[in-house]
Amino acid sequence: MKNAEFLGIDIGASGVKGAIVDVRAGVLVTERFRIPTPQPSTPKNVATAFNEIVRYFGWEGKTIGCGFPSVIKNGLAQTAANIDDEWLGINIAETFSEYCGCPVVVSNDADIAGIAELQFGVGKNVNGTVLIITIGSGLGSALFRDGILVPNTELGHIYLKGDYNIAEHYAADSARKKQNLSWEEWGARFNEYLHHIELIIAPDLIILGGGGSKKFDKFKDQIIIKTPVIPAVLLNNAGIIGAAIHAFNKEKMVGSASKTIG
Ligand code: BGC
Repeated sequence: MKNAEFLGIDIGASGVKGAIVDVRAGVLVTERFRIPTPQPSTPKNVATAFNEIVRYFGWEGKTIGCGFPSVIKNGLAQTAANIDDEWLGINIAETFSEYCGCPVVVSNDADIAGIAELQFGVGKNVNGTVLIITIGSGLGSALFRDGILVPNTELGHIYLKGDYNIAEHYAADSARKKQNLSWEEWGARFNEYLHHIELIIAPDLIILGGGGSKKFDKFKDQIIIKTPVIPAVLLNNAGIIGAAIHAFNKEKMVGSASKTIG
């Protein structure tokens, strides 16, 4: 295990994915290892899956970074839209750490993917207001101003009057699958969503991440808002890379603190 290599784990509604990442280059140095998210996705079940990934890579000692689909404050899960309600109020990092025996740092999955895209992807050196929207079972968001993250934005949860209630029920990839929409139909919905976001946030750039970003060619013609919209170059590896960067930053902080103290 080299100094710049960290294990990143991305927890999603349908899969728990991990890989070892070279955080200086922003690239995976192993294949991704994915296991389906256990159902029900309770803390016990997800922590068991997390530990399975840790064991698969034979990871020991060094901090593990993780992206998790929830608003997280002071380490505690505040929302559970696409995971089991049992997570509410639970300390996520501590739970994973108990199961795997390594220190763990956790942040919102979209925020983490955004950090990777800004550091190594299409958001590199882009100033102004940059918004990352991840398309998957949910719609995740990460908002940056001049490279600084405003954490825990939940723009996929914007209220929609009528049957759908929140935007992600109308325009996430899960809505496309559930309602059997063609890419054209879904793309038109997603464009409507982005149009609304454009009105309320006025971003300079929108980057699309998550599994849905791999299919950008299938719906790009439907995206006709004024703001430039581009797919993430790291695609759905951004979550794993960002998680590993998070772990690296944490170890750097601990290292510099101990230097100051000791
Ligand atoms: C969750 C977000 C998450 C997004 C993508 C949403 O349902 O509320 O916290 O970032 O899904 O996983």
